[in-house]
Amino acid sequence: MELIHTVAWMRQVAAEARRGDCPLGLVPTMGALHEGHFSLVREAKRQCSPVVVSIFVNPKQFGPSEDFQKYPRTLDADRAALENLGVDYTFAPAPEQIYPSGFRTAVSVEGLSDKLEGRSRPGHFRGVTTVVLKLFEIVQPRFAFFGRKDAQQVRIIRQMTGDLALDTEIAVCPIVREPDGLALSSRNAYLSAGDRRAATVLYRSLDALRREISAGDRDVVHLVATVRKIIEAEPGVALDYAEIVDADTLEPVMALRKTCCALLAARVGNTRLIDNALIEPAGESFIVTL
Ligand code: PAJ
Repeated sequence: MELIHTVAWMRQVAAEARRGDCPLGLVPTMGALHEGHFSLVREAKRQCSPVVVSIFVNPKQFGPSEDFQKYPRTLDADRAALENLGVDYTFAPAPEQIYPSGFRTAVSVEGLSDKLEGRSRPGHFRGVTTVVLKLFEIVQPRFAFFGRKDAQQVRIIRQMTGDLALDTEIAVCPIVREPDGLALSSRNAYLSAGDRRAATVLYRSLDALRREISAGDRDVVHLVATVRKIIEAEPGVALDYAEIVDADTLEPVMALRKTCCALLAARVGNTRLIDNALIEPAGESFIVTL
C-alpha cells in the first residue's frame, strides 16, 4: 500500500489508475478506523480496483465548540489495518494541502443541509460537501462508498453528485453495530464505562420502534413519542432530536407511506451520538432496518 500526502501526487496516481480496466473506488474517512469503516473498504474491494481510502480530519465540518482538536488520530494503526485489508492507496493530506492559505470556496446543498444534524451543527454539512467534492475532484473515483450510519450525509452527497453531474456513483453500506446494538463510531472512544452502557439506549429505542411498526402501528406521533420516552428515561443521556422524515426530502412525515428514516441524535455524557433506522414499505407492511 502506498501512503500519499500531497494533492498533486494523489491526482497523478489516480489519473494513472483510472486508465486500468477496473473501476477506481474511494472510501472517504476521518481516520480512527473501526469495523464500520472496514466494511466500506471490503465492499469497495469487492467492486473496485484500485481502492483509495482518504484519511482527513476535516476542520471545516467541526463547529467552533466541537471536538476537532481532540478527535482521535491513529494514523499508524489505520495504515496497518488498511494494508492488511489490501487497500492500494491511502491518501492522508495535511490540512494545508486541502485548504491552502487563501482558500475561499464552499459547496453547499441548500435545504437538506440545515435540517436535523444541520440544525444542531450549523455549517457542518457545508464542510462535508466542500471536502467531499474536493476529494472527488482529486481522485475522480467511479464509485465512492459511504455508510448509512450517517444517513443525512448520504442523502446530501447524493444530491450534490446529481446536481453537479459528477461521474461518481455513491454506494451505501449498512450500519455496523456492536453486539449490543451500539453503532460503531470513532467518537465511541470518548465514552466512559457508564456512558458506554447508557449509549445502547439509541439502539434500544429504534428497536422498540421496529417492534411497534411490525405490530401495525403507523401513527408517527405515537412512534416518535415511544422513541423519545425510552431515550429520556435513560439517566445521563440528553436527547437532541428524534424525527421520522421522508427519506427523500428529510421533511417530517405525518404517516408512514413512502420510504422514511427515523433519525436521532443524543448527548451521552459529553459525547454526541447519532443513529437511524430505515423504514421501507413492503406491500401492506414495512421493513425496518437498523
Ligand atoms: P467518518 O465519520 O470517519 O466516516 C467515514 C465513513 O464511514 C462514512 O461514510 C460513515 O457513514 C461510515 N461509517 C462510520 N461508522 C459506521 C458504521 N458504524 N457502520 C457503517 N458505516 C460507518 O463521515 C465522515 O467521516 C466524514 O464526514 C467524511 C465523509 C469523511 C467527510 O469528511
